[in-house]
Amino acid sequence: MMNVSEILHKILGFMMPDRAAVNAHLVDDLYYFVFILSIVGLVGLMGVMVFFIVRYHRSQNDKSAYIPHNALAETIWTVVPTIIFVGIAVWGLIAFYEAEKKDPNALEIKVTGKQWMWEFGYKKGNLEANITDVMYVPINTPVHLDMTSTDVLHSFFVPSFRIKRDTVPGMRTKLNFTATKLGDFQIFCAEFCGTAHSKMRGIVRVVSKKRFQRWLNREIKEANISDPVELGSRLFARKGCTSCHSVESNTIIGPGLKGLWGAKREFADGSSITAADAEYIRESILMPNAKVVKGYPAKMNSFAGQLTEKEIDYLIEYIKTLK
Ligand code: CUA
Repeated sequence: MMNVSEILHKILGFMMPDRAAVNAHLVDDLYYFVFILSIVGLVGLMGVMVFFIVRYHRSQNDKSAYIPHNALAETIWTVVPTIIFVGIAVWGLIAFYEAEKKDPNALEIKVTGKQWMWEFGYKKGNLEANITDVMYVPINTPVHLDMTSTDVLHSFFVPSFRIKRDTVPGMRTKLNFTATKLGDFQIFCAEFCGTAHSKMRGIVRVVSKKRFQRWLNREIKEANISDPVELGSRLFARKGCTSCHSVESNTIIGPGLKGLWGAKREFADGSSITAADAEYIRESILMPNAKVVKGYPAKMNSFAGQLTEKEIDYLIEYIKTLK
């Protein structure tokens, strides 16, 4: 059996965003009530006005009766709206506290708003992982957001979950939700926070509990790699080095890097070095045209500004192992 809330949503739901969280109806119910009340008020007021215009037109009643006041009418039009408006306020308050209830077993995610992106912090035991832009959550699981901001005011808004709250520098704000539908749901920043405010979007990706665990394990593992060679190997693939450099001896565009460490290198300008070292590799990454290997085109672009010094060290550690 459908209850009133569900029937209303069937009829009026077309004007709301997709509904995908347990408490979303708390907002919708109130909205539909106010919406219907507004229509009743509009039709009622306009109806009475039109009736009065016709009924008391000058052609029928040239002189109006003298009515200084009507205690009954005045009491009704004061008391009835007061009850309705206070009722809406109390209803809103009840819905607010219902949505504020934190499930003690809720999955906690740290949300950080910064110009101009959303960052999500996950924890597993003592290990942490920070992910930007896409927030993964398991379906039908209570989630508790512990939010803050690093710079200015932002506002975390997920229309489909009917949740929205400011993130404030130096303050922690909270939100709860339980997603009920699989899929991607848009996150907006709902507080003007600078030039790229409108681009400060993100996605809540609701996945099955199993897939969420798999994803979390992978991210936690990924975020906690400390072996420089492993980190270098990942950077090598991620920064696109592989599209020009083989880790074997063959040529793709640039020279293959197998056996590079400590090897003699001859350059197009006739100069050479006796043993490729960290300084040479670093220079080749940041200023690729300073020493172009003989027989290869000077095609590489500088990676200056795209890699930190630490990342360059990881790449060097990785290249050392290519034997
Ligand atoms: Cu952040 Cu607008």
